[in-house]
Amino acid sequence: SRGALWGARFAEGPSPELVALSRSTHFDWALAAYDIAGSRAHALALAEAGYLAPDELERMLEGLEVVRGGVEAGTIRPLESDEDVHFALERELIAVVGPELGGRLRAGRSRNDQIATLVRLYLLDHAAAISHLVVRLIDAIAAQAEAHRDAPMPGRTHLQHAQPVLLAHHLLAHAWPLVRDLERLRDWRARAARSPYGAGALAGGALGLDPRLVARELGLGEPTENSIDATSSRDVVAEFAFIAAQLGVDLSRFAEDIILWATREVGFVRLHDGYSTGSSIMPQKKNPDIAELARGKSGRLVGNLAGLLTTLKGLPLAYNRDLQEDKEPVFDSVVTLEVLLPAFTGMVETLVFDTERMASLAPEGFSLATDVADWLVRRRVPFREAHEISGALVRFCEEHGLQLHEPTDEQYAAVSPHLTGEVREALTVAGSLASRSGVGGTAPDRVAEQLAELTRRVREF
Ligand code: ARG
Repeated sequence: SRGALWGARFAEGPSPELVALSRSTHFDWALAAYDIAGSRAHALALAEAGYLAPDELERMLEGLEVVRGGVEAGTIRPLESDEDVHFALERELIAVVGPELGGRLRAGRSRNDQIATLVRLYLLDHAAAISHLVVRLIDAIAAQAEAHRDAPMPGRTHLQHAQPVLLAHHLLAHAWPLVRDLERLRDWRARAARSPYGAGALAGGALGLDPRLVARELGLGEPTENSIDATSSRDVVAEFAFIAAQLGVDLSRFAEDIILWATREVGFVRLHDGYSTGSSIMPQKKNPDIAELARGKSGRLVGNLAGLLTTLKGLPLAYNRDLQEDKEPVFDSVVTLEVLLPAFTGMVETLVFDTERMASLAPEGFSLATDVADWLVRRRVPFREAHEISGALVRFCEEHGLQLHEPTDEQYAAVSPHLTGEVREALTVAGSLASRSGVGGTAPDRVAEQLAELTRRVREF
């Protein structure tokens, strides 16, 4: 016969090439503990429906515990001949409880509803772990923001000096996307925590087993609504892969800032020795490898999502073996984030900022020109005109090698009669920062409120 799960209708055994192609144990072994938990719940449902006598149930549960112990200890491993984790664990269970009892467990379930359930269980557990790691990173960003509450820096658009901002404000701009990623994971959980177990191969169960009992045992919510959908859809997996990719992109954007800040030319930040690397040839080198790996791995996370969606897009209902290809990309996304996030957090926690340099560069590049225009608007000059006056002042200063506050009163008046020496009061970084007191702005009071709000929001997770 062709192996334990489906051999009887075949006259010939499987070719070695098929076995090599078909085997998934090298990655789906990560689901072994969940497979056993599913079997335990399923045994309870079988017993409740009268398919296992109480003593049979007891022996079955004991047998499953033996298998669980063997998997945990590493003494139970998949064989070359095992097609997948379900196959391997049934073989092991039968070795413990015998074929008569062991052969009863498969009644009323299929690997199709099993795998759909187990992937959810795996992702739910790891989503919780990843959420925790993201919270730690947000805490690290918040601590850096707290430590630099009053430090100004050049705010840039198009990488050009734009307007001064607080370093804390800039740092918190990297925290909020991560808060939304936490919210995404929480929202995703509500959709993921449904139980396909009981959907069977595609058409639903025929033995009167209680899917709610199984769902409850597995810590899931309601059973899925449609057995075909339950076994053939992987949008829940793809949505997780999207959140992982978005997290990667959010880390990558922060990483790019850190890489630029650590350059000799910008010189805003120094990396801790423990969170940077050297060169095998250039003795002086100190490289931001964690940030670069974050940037690089974000490509991999996006690729995992793209690959998965591509696998799904042309599939007819219901289960198709293509669906086995969902696991490697999404497992890779999980492992990638679980190794990346702690390193990234350590790097952020230990960043040392050159706040003097950042402060001295904050007003450079005529970054207070908008403040000149706003000062004019407060004196009832129409903004269109104020913009032109400020632009003319920038041109004048650039030609004469002056900063915006340096012309004489006469020179101001020559640019525009609206400009008086009083404009100099508006031309300080501190004044500019304090004036940006609109909702979500960079004024120190607003940033303090923002930090408090961030801290409050993160406590939800
Ligand atoms: N290993 C399969 C998967 O990962 C589950 C088994 C279903 N196989 C099948 N031939 N119906 O999707």
